[in-house]
Amino acid sequence: MSLSINPRANTLTVPGIRQFSNQLVNFPNAINLTIGQPDFPTPVAVKEAGIRAIEQNLTGYSHNAGLLELREAVNTFFSNKYGFSYDPQNEIVITNGASEAIDSIFRTILEEGDEVILPAPIYSGYVPVIELCGAKVVYLDTTETGFQPSAKNLERLITEKTKAILFNNPSNPTGVIIQKDTMDELVQMLKEKEVFILTDEIYSENTFSGEHHSFAAYKELQHKLFYIHGVSKSHSMTGWRVGFLMGPATIMKQVMLVHAYNSICASLPAQHAAIEALTNSKDTPSEMNVEYVKRRDYVYNRLVGMGFSVEKPNGAFYIFPSIKAFGMNSFDFATKLLQEGGVAVVPGSTFTPYGEGYIRISYAYSMEVLKEGLNRVEKFIQTIQK
Ligand SMILES: Cc1ncc(COP(=O)(O)O)c(C=O)c1O
Repeated sequence: MSLSINPRANTLTVPGIRQFSNQLVNFPNAINLTIGQPDFPTPVAVKEAGIRAIEQNLTGYSHNAGLLELREAVNTFFSNKYGFSYDPQNEIVITNGASEAIDSIFRTILEEGDEVILPAPIYSGYVPVIELCGAKVVYLDTTETGFQPSAKNLERLITEKTKAILFNNPSNPTGVIIQKDTMDELVQMLKEKEVFILTDEIYSENTFSGEHHSFAAYKELQHKLFYIHGVSKSHSMTGWRVGFLMGPATIMKQVMLVHAYNSICASLPAQHAAIEALTNSKDTPSEMNVEYVKRRDYVYNRLVGMGFSVEKPNGAFYIFPSIKAFGMNSFDFATKLLQEGGVAVVPGSTFTPYGEGYIRISYAYSMEVLKEGLNRVEKFIQTIQK
């Protein structure tokens, strides 16, 4: 007998993003540019659909895979927009946010000793789940290739142990979108490999110029590809907790059980709200994008004007400037910026060791907040450059 806990759970730490935003209580006048959620309210019609569901006592469990009507709406939305289709009956599971989709697919496919390749820097939500499964993360460095995952470099990392490769496109934290020709090269190479492809495209609706291309649209990958999405970012519904996972029926059968034993189903009123989001309110994201583009341009121009080296982001609502010129690591830079400059940003090292030397700024904030935040950043860097 023992009261010790799973050592893998013991290694978990508070996410870096939260470490910084949690510190903010000690700096009540600081400008917070850390959080990755839209600052818009959930669209009125979506809220009303959720309220209606509650009033009509639609508050019980749904089918484990989620309401069929929502699965059908998911398929219609993605097939109309991106030209790929999944069978609502047996290839789509509605999850508690994209987070639970990530958890369910990894727990279904991973075994002890497997390797998962992540292009890095990347969102910090994948590594803990992979490691809790007893698998190992292998990073593909994208810092020398404009944050694009190079097919050649990726191929070198694939071994007998590789079980899966995960892409996040558009990217949190860089805001970069995988270029179509790069994606074509990746698919050409990956179609020959016996590895699962996971694609987290939760920011697809936050694409600011050009089209979003999805890995799911490549037929040659469909038998081994899992598509992760949700309404959190597209419809400003982070607290409603509705995500989607799509993939081949043979494996989705087991994914559905992993999901069912975890949480039975996603919240029913929230599923009703998500139906509204993907049908009558399907154009809300492009309305939000008008605002994001203005903010993106403003923040990018200000950072370039201050002398930061930075890729212009084309999606999501993050920007990832280099701070290498300041001779400090990203944690120290962010700490100093908060304590002395009054602005909270996320140290790049939160997004794997390959994010070291950068900071992530979220521009899911009003123009007024962004202006004040960037004025403070400008003042701060002048003091540390002296
Ligand atoms: C890339 C990425 N995937 C998944 C998630 C989690 O989404 P959800 O709130 O739907 O669980 C986030 C949240 O920030 C994210 O940035």
